[in-house]
Amino acid sequence: PLVVSADDIVAEIQPTMYGIFFEDINFAADGGLYAELVKNRSFEFTFPLMGWSQPNSDRHSLNENSGFASVLRSNREHNPHFCRVEVKNDKGYSLINEGFRGMGIKEGETYNLSLMAAKHEGNISRVHFRFVDESGKVLGETSIQPGDGEWKKYKTAIIPTGTAAKAQLKITFEGKGTIDLDMISVFPEETWKNRPNGLRKDLVQLLYDMDPGFLRFPGGCIVEGRTLNERYQWKKTVGPIEDREGMVNRWNMEFEHRLTPDYYQSFGLGFFEYFQLAEDLGAEPLPILSCGIACQFNTGELAPMDELDPYIQDALDLIEFANGPVNSSWGKIRKDMGHPEPFNMKYIGVGNEQWGPEYIKRYKVFEKAIKEKYPDMIIVSGSGPFPDGEYFEYGMKELKKLNAEIIDEHYYRSPEWFRENADRYDSYDRNGPKIFAGEYAAQSVAIASPENRNNWECALSEAAFITGLERNAEVVHLTSYAPLMAHKDGWQWTPDLIWFDNLGSYGTPNYYVQKLFSRNKGTHVVPVRLNGKAITGQGELYATASLDKNTNEIIVKIVNTSGKEKQEKITFRGVSRLADTAKITVLQTGDLAAENSLDHPVSISPKEKSVKAKKDRLDVALQPYSVNVIRVKKR
Ligand code: AHR
Repeated sequence: PLVVSADDIVAEIQPTMYGIFFEDINFAADGGLYAELVKNRSFEFTFPLMGWSQPNSDRHSLNENSGFASVLRSNREHNPHFCRVEVKNDKGYSLINEGFRGMGIKEGETYNLSLMAAKHEGNISRVHFRFVDESGKVLGETSIQPGDGEWKKYKTAIIPTGTAAKAQLKITFEGKGTIDLDMISVFPEETWKNRPNGLRKDLVQLLYDMDPGFLRFPGGCIVEGRTLNERYQWKKTVGPIEDREGMVNRWNMEFEHRLTPDYYQSFGLGFFEYFQLAEDLGAEPLPILSCGIACQFNTGELAPMDELDPYIQDALDLIEFANGPVNSSWGKIRKDMGHPEPFNMKYIGVGNEQWGPEYIKRYKVFEKAIKEKYPDMIIVSGSGPFPDGEYFEYGMKELKKLNAEIIDEHYYRSPEWFRENADRYDSYDRNGPKIFAGEYAAQSVAIASPENRNNWECALSEAAFITGLERNAEVVHLTSYAPLMAHKDGWQWTPDLIWFDNLGSYGTPNYYVQKLFSRNKGTHVVPVRLNGKAITGQGELYATASLDKNTNEIIVKIVNTSGKEKQEKITFRGVSRLADTAKITVLQTGDLAAENSLDHPVSISPKEKSVKAKKDRLDVALQPYSVNVIRVKKR
């Protein structure tokens, strides 16, 4: 039998045990979580009219001479470009935004449209905005009457008369003349908590349902940038959205034969919004900052050691932004953005996935500066992209010498690797640094192959591995799957935890594994053994057990990776009597290749049943290829 020793507490399970890794990859922010529908709203992309088209413009038809949009530069410090439209014949000219692989609009919902406009010569009397579907059918419209002269902000709304996943925004003009346009923006009124400049409700709901312990942001490689100039600079992402200076996305590149030349960061979802999201989710905010090394998979550009000050200052100022009093310089900006209370940030990451001696040199400088000013701040350091090999060993050894607090390990490996490494942390030093399993995902084909699938074999293998993370909660303090999200028409990397299009979203089987573990973590690890040993693959079973001191329950999670049903007896030691029934939540399918999809979003999702307890014993049938979470109260 399996034996749970319910009165033998091994370790506390940190509230941060299961969290979220967010990166703006696969259109996860602009085009995804950030609910803006207009791509390149402020004409700041490298090709400034990218995302926009203008049928019947001079550019395309010399004869019609109907109108022409060009992008000009103003003397504004940030986002200086704007669009000048010269309308010579208002019959056929239009300016169209294609959205992020189209715009998702829903019948009857309200879409708030805003823009800046300044009218010069001529008599343009109205500007019309219409949603049109792929066939050109109008699905709702509105208009503004532009005043003469200076820049003014206009606000209006469209309520669509139909639903479309790939609508476009078509702008037409009444009259002739010249008009300047900028910050053309459309948001659904219904966002998460109905905030303006808000986040897509369905996507945040999926995150909320995971009950995550932390939110790591903003990545990933985008922290580092392809070059240092293109690193993520949080200071440029706070304050009024029109002043946030956009930038190319690090994933705007050919990656595994996929090219997304229109991938930019508007930073409408910036650091304030990330902190706010963490707060909404009840998760600890965990920002990661550049340590002065650009992505080592790209240029690996290094900031010289004597030029690290601005990077370090960014880290110190971020702590002030998050936690400082409202009369401090950065605390005031947080207050002005509507959050006078501190965000209570406790963790900060120095560098994403960096490795080698150059990283260690820079890490030391950051650590000294942060700890001098903020001794209680917990610093997360990196161990590089591979969970083994020369650089990994080097990094771990050096970081241990420095008494690093938490080391971030990443593993993108085969499903077999995950099953075979469920005992990875059994041998980790209990007195050494704690571990953040910060990025992991089973790869069905090969690392970052575009052919990778979010199939059941991968999810099941991750579940087997996670039992090992939880059994070792004494060492492993934080864990997160990566990447988090992908747009079905705009991704660069697979697999991903959550997939979406412009209208809908779904959790993969991997998502349901994460959710199950997160929502059933308990507060303290207790041993569950087979023949006196931890269960790490014997008979293709993997298990972990915990107590939930808040609910007085024992939680046993058992993963059966075999294709056979297993009848198991579980004996609970240290319990005089169990409650009469236990609840078992099962995630299962007999098909290792099975997946969820937009059309079948919950094919693989948890089902609940109950089983009668016999004093201190439970007899359970573990279905083939199943993840089982058993919760039973102690009397
Ligand atoms: O999750 C995708 C990428 O994998 C991350 O950006 C990076 O940290 C890792 O290499």
